[in-house]
Amino acid sequence: MHMRSALVFFSLVVSCTTEFAPPLLNISLDDPPGTRWAPILKVFDVHFLKAAMAEIIDSTVPKWVHKAVTPVVMALEKYIPEPYGGEIRGMASHSGASVSDIILLNFAYEISAFCTSIVAQDTKGNVYHGRNLDYPKEILRNLTVNVHFMKNGEVAYRGTSFAGYVGLWTGQSPKRFTISGNQRGKDRWWNWWKNIVSALLLKRSPVSWLIRETLEGAVDFQEAVLRLSKNPIITGVYYIIAGVRPGEGVVITRDRNGPADIWPLDPLNGEWYRVETNFDHWHPSQGGGHRRRDEAVKALNATGQKEINLATLYQVLSVYPVCNGITVYTTTMSAAIPGEYNTLVRPQGCHENE
Ligand SMILES: *[C@@H]1O[C@H](CO)[C@@H](O)[C@H](O)[C@H]1NC(C)=O
Ligand SMILES: *[C@@H]1O[C@H](CO)[C@@H](O)[C@H](O)[C@H]1NC(C)=O
Ligand SMILES: *[C@@H]1O[C@H](CO)[C@@H](O)[C@H](O)[C@H]1NC(C)=O
Repeated sequence: MHMRSALVFFSLVVSCTTEFAPPLLNISLDDPPGTRWAPILKVFDVHFLKAAMAEIIDSTVPKWVHKAVTPVVMALEKYIPEPYGGEIRGMASHSGASVSDIILLNFAYEISAFCTSIVAQDTKGNVYHGRNLDYPKEILRNLTVNVHFMKNGEVAYRGTSFAGYVGLWTGQSPKRFTISGNQRGKDRWWNWWKNIVSALLLKRSPVSWLIRETLEGAVDFQEAVLRLSKNPIITGVYYIIAGVRPGEGVVITRDRNGPADIWPLDPLNGEWYRVETNFDHWHPSQGGGHRRRDEAVKALNATGQKEINLATLYQVLSVYPVCNGITVYTTTMSAAIPGEYNTLVRPQGCHENE
């Protein structure tokens, strides 16, 4: 009965037929920061990269602002902590873009990333994690890349990113935990200033750097939750984290200085999934952007705890408008089965069935 209703449900849903896997990069953390991103030129054409980055900046900041801020950015450049400073300078020399543009780019994505993240546990206690990354720039679909961060020839952690970007919004520490980040609140390009200054002079972490550092350093789910809850960051965000044991799933609502709320799975009381979009989970739904949450919850209910797995989670993340016109990619992952990490790019996004 459950299965059947799920099937009927999904047959009404948009089919996004032409998803594709993004290119894979192996980045060796044993190489110096300034050269470790060189493999990017094996999977992206250098002219394309340069043009794509320029397009993102030109369509985000007015030209005169871009001109005016460049010297300021260059003055701050020396304050960028390692390894990010070295990686950014390396990225500039690999792609032929200017250092200040790569810096701007790395702060540009901190704004207007709308997303849906889901953590769910099946009846056997397996934990799954999925996310859609929505961003209103088409070109990002052609810049999406899966990255293996290698140490001693092994995958230390992996994630999905955009060429030129050194932070992570989606990633996995194998056999330990998975993390996704969703934007909280509205930010605007004119807040870049505050963000860049706050990051470099006040030593707050951009939210995507904290994800990367947690993937690199935390030894288990608990430590990941602790780090993502308390380390100071430049702007509010939602961190969604899943582990490898039953009950290891949580949504952290972050203020800049610490957690505003911690919302764990509660499978013993029937709360076997958590859905986070871009508003605080305790606010009642009121249409608009909240529809993504409502539809995801409906689809999870229709699927049922018994049937949830990486494949059905992908289906949930394919339901309109959970997947929508600006969805760039979908990732499904489970830290217990690291090799099943899967990202697919949505070339046209998803649209409502006519
Ligand atoms: C990345 O490294 C893995 C593991 O060492 C290897 O199997 C794979 O072929 C490499 N892929 C690329 C694109 O270099
Ligand atoms: C981006 O990728 C799509 C699908 O792979 C392709 O059709 C399109 O031409 C690419 N766009 C650019 C600007 O390269
Ligand atoms: C989903 O299921 C939960 C728990 O049974 C229920 O409280 C909620 O109202 C359901 N939501 C929708 C939209 O079906």
